[in-house]
Amino acid sequence: MTTNPEVTLAEPGLKFPEILIYRGYSAPVRIEADVHDLEVIGRIPPELNGAYFRNSADPTYPPLHGTDIFLNGDGMVHSVRLENGHADLKTRYVRTAKFELERKTRRAVFGAYRNPFTDAPEAAGTDSNTANTSMFWHHGKLYALKESGRPYELDPRTLETLGERDFNGTLKSQTFTAHPKLDPETGEAIAFAYNTAGVASDEIEIYTLDATGDIARTEKFKAPYCSMVHDFLVSRNHIAFVICPMVCDWERVKRGEPYWHWDATKKTMIGIIPRDEGVRAIRWYTCPVVAMETHTFNAWEESSAQGTRLHLDHFVTGSGWLSQFPDIHNPEAKEKPPFGERWSFDLADPTDHFEIRRLINHIGEMPVIDSRYAMKRARHFWFGTFNPAFGPMLPIGPKGPPFTCLGHFDEAADKLNFYYAGPDSAPEEPCFVPKNADAPEGEGWLLTMVGRRAENRTDLVILDALHLDRGPVAIVKFPCRVHEGFHGTFVPAGALGW
Ligand SMILES: [Fe+2]
Repeated sequence: MTTNPEVTLAEPGLKFPEILIYRGYSAPVRIEADVHDLEVIGRIPPELNGAYFRNSADPTYPPLHGTDIFLNGDGMVHSVRLENGHADLKTRYVRTAKFELERKTRRAVFGAYRNPFTDAPEAAGTDSNTANTSMFWHHGKLYALKESGRPYELDPRTLETLGERDFNGTLKSQTFTAHPKLDPETGEAIAFAYNTAGVASDEIEIYTLDATGDIARTEKFKAPYCSMVHDFLVSRNHIAFVICPMVCDWERVKRGEPYWHWDATKKTMIGIIPRDEGVRAIRWYTCPVVAMETHTFNAWEESSAQGTRLHLDHFVTGSGWLSQFPDIHNPEAKEKPPFGERWSFDLADPTDHFEIRRLINHIGEMPVIDSRYAMKRARHFWFGTFNPAFGPMLPIGPKGPPFTCLGHFDEAADKLNFYYAGPDSAPEEPCFVPKNADAPEGEGWLLTMVGRRAENRTDLVILDALHLDRGPVAIVKFPCRVHEGFHGTFVPAGALGW
């Protein structure tokens, strides 16, 4: 046996650690690609004319300290342009300040998520935002969002990064949520930022962006304590925040510990704000159980002679995101599965009592509704899930067990329906696209990226949203894998001006 002298280097080369987050199906992809005319099995509905944009966390460099959490990877955006039954793929990194600095230094200089005490000296003065969580289309512009930083605008056609944005100088916070809500009646976007008074602060700011993209209204309030506020809820007349005990302790951060910890000794609190009166009329409720809202479907009101009930439809778990941030009191605690719940508030009741009931009797996450029904009662709910009746669970990944199915809950019919992606296949967040602007609720398509794990490849799968069990109407086959992602959105060609 001969030894190749090239593999015994005095200095180690660039190498990702041999741990789950950097190996196998979760390994960094790092490829910026264009594939024109992807292979298509079946027929892409001709109504689907536009682009599906979605964001992911794809680390550019091995971590500074040997490991990292899944959600700290660099923002890599995937777009699939759909036109006349054809599909083109594009993948591009978001050129954040962090990305540009690390590309220049040819190594990671940022350490743990939002922990400047773990950064290398070269990182000083540069923002750590990775812009890796969601895509936001509003006022004719496309943004990559992450809650720990400001929006980055991208060119929707080229995915070129156009720069960090502050909405014409009106965004004062250094942060901005990855989950703004679009008001289908007014064209406004309701958004918020937390930690607006700086790291570990308990201050939250609400923004209303008008249809032109200017922030028309801002209001600040103090949360009961500093916590991760990943998502929120907006109905026609109310805004609701669920403050969960995923808390930040700056002394721990200084010691190099994670930015967030789950602290079940704290109460889950719900703040309800009338949209017309604003934060001066905020009302706080204490949740009878320690719970964490993971993501939200929708909020809506029901009025009767007895008064108004506000309903919050969302996924809730009894643990924090322990795969990413540990339990402060029990480092061995295991993450609990989220279930779809409806929290209902009788706004005339002066007590802080509210009703909690299971909305969907099945585990799930990554919720979506027909966005035309946002802020009013929706009938149809879609989500990612598992269903052992169809096939076994897949090996656990760095963000938990991968989905094997998508679920559809028709509340009016009280029926659950599933799409099973096949052995060794993992669908991701669904994205609903109506057949046309006037189609009845739910009539349309459900798009999802599906990881083909054995083939180390990704597909975009298109389903009839009301008939998931019929299987795909089209499978758009990528010749390669794109990194598992978080949140996406479909923008019609007309809106894009294409
Ligand atoms: Fe999210």
